[in-house]
Amino acid sequence: MNNKPYIAVAPMMDWTDRHCRYFHRLIAPHVHLFTEMVTTGALIHGDRDRFLRFDPTEQPVTLQLGGSGPADLARCAKMGEDYGYNAINLNCGCPSDRVQSGKFGACLMNEPELVADCIGAMMDLVHIPVSVKCRIGIDNSDDFSFLNKFIEETSKVKCKNFVIHARKAWLSGLSPKENREIPPLRYDIINEIKEKHSDLNIVVNGGIKTIEDTEQYLNSFNGVMIGREAYQNPYILADIERTFFDNMNILPREEVARAMIPYIAEQNRQYGTPAKSITRHMMGLFHSQPGGKKWRRALSEQSSIEEALNQMSEKNLEYAA
Ligand SMILES: Cc1cc2nc3c(=O)[nH]c(=O)nc-3n(C[C@H](O)[C@H](O)[C@H](O)COP(=O)(O)O)c2cc1C
Repeated sequence: MNNKPYIAVAPMMDWTDRHCRYFHRLIAPHVHLFTEMVTTGALIHGDRDRFLRFDPTEQPVTLQLGGSGPADLARCAKMGEDYGYNAINLNCGCPSDRVQSGKFGACLMNEPELVADCIGAMMDLVHIPVSVKCRIGIDNSDDFSFLNKFIEETSKVKCKNFVIHARKAWLSGLSPKENREIPPLRYDIINEIKEKHSDLNIVVNGGIKTIEDTEQYLNSFNGVMIGREAYQNPYILADIERTFFDNMNILPREEVARAMIPYIAEQNRQYGTPAKSITRHMMGLFHSQPGGKKWRRALSEQSSIEEALNQMSEKNLEYAA
């Protein structure tokens, strides 16, 4: 991590696919982007190119892997490096049943030695940075000493980079969505970790929604990761660019929307991708703006971007009023 602040959009399954990342990148040239979690099984047995290809303009992009086999993870990390990803991240935070049955995600927090083996195997094979994304704890193991043991064990293999979601996860009884809302946010535990391990890069995640939050956490941690707010209100990334990267060349919302038109046409031509698979990520572009609801409705009704922009133009707004 260099001296520019590290601010990232979180990995989000079904949300941060390559189209979403292309769109986010148009708004924000400096933030770090993550893929959705990709399992080792999908990369080893599935259509690798479908999971890994991305547009070079998306960089810097981190590939997030889900798995618990050191050799498989190392193999997949190498694939990621060969595809040009900027870094690799291991998911130790997802609590879904599907992930638990594959013995990876948040349940790995109970097996820090295995995580250390996984990280060590990846670090031995690739030259790009490797990081871990975890929760503060799981089930009733949710105090400082549990997280500290996990961090100490996994950092023994010289892993220096951690993204910590400030909530614990319940491995049974809560859905993944509830697990992002119900357990309380405990930044204090991450603070203690950072104080004890000042040599580690600790990126804080969970419930960060404003520029003020971002500023505050950048003072105590090495970076900030924003999830749902960046997806639902993507133009917050423009404020982030202005505030933290002194970037005054931000594209206005309409220009961002128009810049997606040739991309959509090209994706359709090259891969047959339907426009709606791309425009679904753009629903929040006019969040809290006049006409924002019309934009959202037009896109959900599968209007083209030009039509959606026309529908929210001033004339239409006057008419609606
Ligand atoms: C739809 C959705 C999908 C997610 N998928 C992943 C994932 O694939 N990997 C992961 O580590 N976290 C995943 N998360 C969790 C986020 O990365 C993040 O840790 C969480 O949303 C908390 O941050 P926030 O409060 O800023 O949203 C997902 C979250 C959402 C909302």
